[in-house]
Amino acid sequence: MNLDRRALLSGAAALGAAPLVAQAKGRAPNPAFPQGFLWGAATAAHQVEGNNVNADIWLMENVTPTTFTEKSGDAANSFLLWETDLDLVKSLGLNTYRFSLEWARIEPEPGQFSIAMLDHYKAIIDGCHARGIHPFVTFNHFTTPRWFAGRGGWHNPDAPALFARYCDRAARHLASGIGHATTLNEPNLAGLLGELLPGDLLATDKAMQEACARAMNVDRFSAGSALYVADPATFRAHQIEGHKQGRAAIKAVRGDLPVGVSLAMMDDQAVGKASLRDAMRERYYGEWLRAARDDDFVGVQNYERKVWNDKGVLPAPADARRNTMGAEVWPGSLAGAVRHAHAVTGRPVIVTEHGVGSEDDTIRAWLIPNALRDLKLAMDDGVPVHGYVHWSLVDNYEWVFGYRIRFGLCELDRQTFKRTPKPSAAVLKRIAQANAL
Ligand code: BGC
Repeated sequence: MNLDRRALLSGAAALGAAPLVAQAKGRAPNPAFPQGFLWGAATAAHQVEGNNVNADIWLMENVTPTTFTEKSGDAANSFLLWETDLDLVKSLGLNTYRFSLEWARIEPEPGQFSIAMLDHYKAIIDGCHARGIHPFVTFNHFTTPRWFAGRGGWHNPDAPALFARYCDRAARHLASGIGHATTLNEPNLAGLLGELLPGDLLATDKAMQEACARAMNVDRFSAGSALYVADPATFRAHQIEGHKQGRAAIKAVRGDLPVGVSLAMMDDQAVGKASLRDAMRERYYGEWLRAARDDDFVGVQNYERKVWNDKGVLPAPADARRNTMGAEVWPGSLAGAVRHAHAVTGRPVIVTEHGVGSEDDTIRAWLIPNALRDLKLAMDDGVPVHGYVHWSLVDNYEWVFGYRIRFGLCELDRQTFKRTPKPSAAVLKRIAQANAL
């Protein structure tokens, strides 16, 4: 039924006139979410902590040329203000906080592990428990230590074992308090990002990584997340192996800890005969969705839909609401991505990211309940979804785009680091507290 509706909308999109509010008309979900449903907000270390100087991306921000429009600097100063962040999560009525460990801090030099930094993340985990918040921990969110990148990053045949060693040390220190864990963030886009981002940054990205290699006096610098990847097949194979070995290392410490991976997924819709949709699904998620079949859950991160005919992506409807980048914001996309992830993996799903980059918070306030409505319809149809984590808790460092693109439920004052909830935060709070639409 939902598929028919989507096909219908895709058809309308092809004509350039899909009425946005037409999604899922006629069928109302059961408003109640299951008991114990995770309601959360997310951040990632490099995007909020500030002064993450030992990470590959810090170096990339600071060489010439660079694809980064500005430097991360102090970010949201969350390395110091993590208690403020936890209080914020609590005040938004959420029961879950997804954040990441910074590998570059925990293992500043190869094989040298910092107990002080592990203790820092342990304090955050303990702080979650003290506030009744479920700690959802990403072991690696894009940034890798400079030394790792300077040894060829994920191109290096030793990369999976190096990652697993870090996972083992971090898990031994932290796993007892973690609620859910993911190994890598959106590894499925490695080598494909250039196709998805606007403009042609590939050549500059390559030159930037070469400049990093010169700065470090190494033969090859390959960042944990970059547009230019010299050998995508090797990079991806090593990441999949790294995920498996990392998961095994975490599980060896605590077998009952749910471990998964977060995948970037669009809602790909087919229109017309010989649509490219299935081929694109295979290209963007195929091997990772298959790898996730052995996980405890699959993390889905969705921001957009794409409507494919036999030639490519159709333009968004003329009346589409749009994000800062000009892309369509379509609430039904979350449920579409979640349905596909579950259909392929057979695993329970946790929405580990969903949101919108926009300075217009009314779009966010509109998106959240409408996306959750379609998500709940999918759940009513039998798709096991265990949680919804919004990206992001607070406006933060949006990688190459700097601070210009704002995803936060809370606004950030970059001088005082004061966080101020936006009206959309109240929308999510009402649903989370009621555990119902
Ligand atoms: C990433 C986040 C990013 C967000 C918004 C996801 O791709 O995991 O780090 O900020 O989307 O673009």
